[in-house]
Amino acid sequence: MLDLKDYGIEMWDKEKIASFRRTLLAWYDQEKRDLPWRRTSNPYYIWISEIMLQQTQVSTVIPYYERFLDWFPMVEDLANAPEEKLLKAWEGLGYYSRVRNMQKAAQQVMTDFNGNFPSTYEDIASLKGIGPYTAGAIASIAFNLPEPAVDGNVMRVTARLFEIDYDIGDPKNRKIFQAIMEILIDPERPGDFNQALMDLGTDIESAKKPRPDESPIRSFNAAYLNGTYDKYPIKLPKKKPKPLEIHAFIIRNQEGELLLEKSMQGRLLAGFWSFPLMETSFIGQQTSLFEDDQTLLETYSKKDNFEETYACKPTWTNRTFKQVKHTFSHQKWTMTLFEGFLNKDDLTLNEHLHWVKLDDLNSYPIATPQKKMLSEYLNNNG
Ligand code: ADE
Repeated sequence: MLDLKDYGIEMWDKEKIASFRRTLLAWYDQEKRDLPWRRTSNPYYIWISEIMLQQTQVSTVIPYYERFLDWFPMVEDLANAPEEKLLKAWEGLGYYSRVRNMQKAAQQVMTDFNGNFPSTYEDIASLKGIGPYTAGAIASIAFNLPEPAVDGNVMRVTARLFEIDYDIGDPKNRKIFQAIMEILIDPERPGDFNQALMDLGTDIESAKKPRPDESPIRSFNAAYLNGTYDKYPIKLPKKKPKPLEIHAFIIRNQEGELLLEKSMQGRLLAGFWSFPLMETSFIGQQTSLFEDDQTLLETYSKKDNFEETYACKPTWTNRTFKQVKHTFSHQKWTMTLFEGFLNKDDLTLNEHLHWVKLDDLNSYPIATPQKKMLSEYLNNNG
């Protein structure tokens, strides 16, 4: 268990914790919003509401929630839903992988749990698409288990309560907020406790226009009391993805096959197959000779670097292609394509280097940037 003192956080004594719970829950009993998923303890219903609420706001969710349950009243109905109807139920909410994951999770409930929604935190968290927040919400609201449900709202409220100097946008700091809430959560009414924080976080303690004077828990709020309310939560701007210039080598042989390489473990897109790639910065580092001369750099990368690395000499063509761009969360790739021809026998293959027929490409795992490159290459292949 994480020691809050190591993070410079002083936990309250027992009386203060008890008083905090009473105050928060008394406010909730008075002010709680009447929402459809608060009139049930059916874990399947609560799960659906929680996933939808991750997409959009409460008022938008309500009609989607009602229609979803109308169409798929039981876990079994969701597990067996035809894809078209499933996607229709989600239309307008966006991010369809969420609902596809929900169907997979519903199928898990049918096969692994005999159709009964699991009732422990661990089992709930074993379902596809259910992370610690959602598992905590379902466990506490549907099963009255003392599990926190820590999302951005709860982290914001907590950061102000304790003047927490850790970035709430950094996933590795989540455990700090989780540890605090494991102590504060009311063991008698954990679901209401979590939902009280949610209500507080979306309104009085919102990110954009908080009204701290109106907060029922202002007398517990260190940031409010110390005049540092505006400083919390700490949320550092997300790092911009690092731009990378990449040269991609589309090498074909006399049979029209393409040279593909499997990305190694530990590298980006490990396990996926790709055209041979080289980062130009890497090439540049190796050859400070070329410095800023892009033409030389390209010539070097194309003619020499590829040839050195793969120990072969393709015949390079002069065809040019549009640059292909792809942004990952931490890298932004700009890919320049080069085409070369190579006699099949002039290259020694290994398990990570294959000649692949165009028709067989589908049987290889190929990631989006490579699909984009392939499309640019084939569309210009007229
Ligand atoms: N946001 C996420 N879960 C919620 C809930 N159960 N009630 C209100 N708002 C929420």
